[in-house]
Amino acid sequence: MSADSNKVWEGRFSGKSAHEVDVFNSSISFDYVLFEEDIAGSIAHAKMLGQQNIISDEDTEQIIEGLHAILNDLKSGQLAFDEQAEDIHMFIEAELTKRIGDAGKRLHTGRSRNDQVALDLRLYVKKQITEIRTQLIQFEQVMIQQAEQHIETVMPGYTHLQIAQPITFAHHILAYGQMIARDIQRLDEALDHTDSMPLGNGALAGTTYPLDRQFVAEQLGFKEVTANSLDGVSDRDFVLDTAYALSLIMMHLSRLSEEIILWCTQEFRFIELDDAFATGSSIMPQKKNPDVAELVRGKTGRTYGNLQTLLTMMKGIPLAYNKDMQEDKEALFDSISTVNIALSAMIPMVETMTVHSDRMRTAASKGFINATDCADYLTKKGIPFREAYEVIGSLVQTCIKNEQTLEEVSLEQYQVLHPAFEEDLYEAIDLDECVNKRNLEGGPAPEAVKEQINRLKKQLHI
Ligand code: ARG
Repeated sequence: MSADSNKVWEGRFSGKSAHEVDVFNSSISFDYVLFEEDIAGSIAHAKMLGQQNIISDEDTEQIIEGLHAILNDLKSGQLAFDEQAEDIHMFIEAELTKRIGDAGKRLHTGRSRNDQVALDLRLYVKKQITEIRTQLIQFEQVMIQQAEQHIETVMPGYTHLQIAQPITFAHHILAYGQMIARDIQRLDEALDHTDSMPLGNGALAGTTYPLDRQFVAEQLGFKEVTANSLDGVSDRDFVLDTAYALSLIMMHLSRLSEEIILWCTQEFRFIELDDAFATGSSIMPQKKNPDVAELVRGKTGRTYGNLQTLLTMMKGIPLAYNKDMQEDKEALFDSISTVNIALSAMIPMVETMTVHSDRMRTAASKGFINATDCADYLTKKGIPFREAYEVIGSLVQTCIKNEQTLEEVSLEQYQVLHPAFEEDLYEAIDLDECVNKRNLEGGPAPEAVKEQINRLKKQLHI
């Protein structure tokens, strides 16, 4: 079986490639998304070829006009992608030649698809990183807004999902603010590694034409040109950096999702999701399910899988280009669209959720959340911490038996346990007081949280 389409590389072959091979080889079903980058790259390349007198001014003009027209037609839907084409690069070149004839055949002078695809992918990654970065900044703004409304909303802090020490909701949500701030830094680093222009690397060994690589880099907004032609066409580190940064974003969104799911339960009821961001059940009329959060948590696995795909795909291929590398795209594109869609649902969900401050406070007043503060009280009176810890430990045991909180124990009972207890103990174990005293930089006290918000805003320029 053979295909009837003509291929640019057919000259060396006497037979046609099998239809199955054409189908297997073709990447246009997914790399069509690179069309804008491919055309931008070709326009810059053609301009440079003209300026260097490698092709004539007329050819240059025709190529540029033709490419602009193809871009418009693709955007308006007037021109459809040819599913039979080998990839987006071949499709655009063939379409150009169909429209302008011989001039179209001159576009690929001094270029290979190997440096062409590397360029397109770098341009694409730069654009996508910038878009996701903007979404992350929006997310930060939403989290800061929620934090500003809940600087004094006391809630239990947990370790092992057991009540540990009191914090505030502002402090809790701002922990995610820090994670996302690091995610932004990671994206910036990935962007920095992507910002090298590979055209001029040719298939692997550069080219003999007097190309002006710096000019092309400037035209396309790159900070530099790649330094080694072999590396320039073989390097997909920037794809991996991006896939890793995207995996970490999903990991953070997934952890927050898990907490949101927990907080929505009847048992916690710390928050309530807006109706627009919850779903019902087909059978149980009472249900209001946090599907968005669950789906974010569920989709996280995809990005890990994509990262693994890319790492494995790259580990055994010799320099320079190998067809294995065509597999970089679907994994990368999927991670990008997963993060994109997850953020677009998650940001307004967090923005519109109602925080039940009363429920948080009630939960924080149980579970001996102030036991550490009680021990610290004795320590501040000169009793060694380990001894104080033991005293309070046995007090908690008695309280559990008597179903009492630490606030409900009388001063006489306290003094039986240790003579150092005085009336001011009750202030020391008061819930608000326990939070207010945790006022070191980075702590949950309202004063410290306000500083934390300022620092974050400054760091993010918001
Ligand atoms: N579709 C190919 C890819 O995505 C483009 C590069 C093909 N280069 C080649 N020498 N076959 O990797």
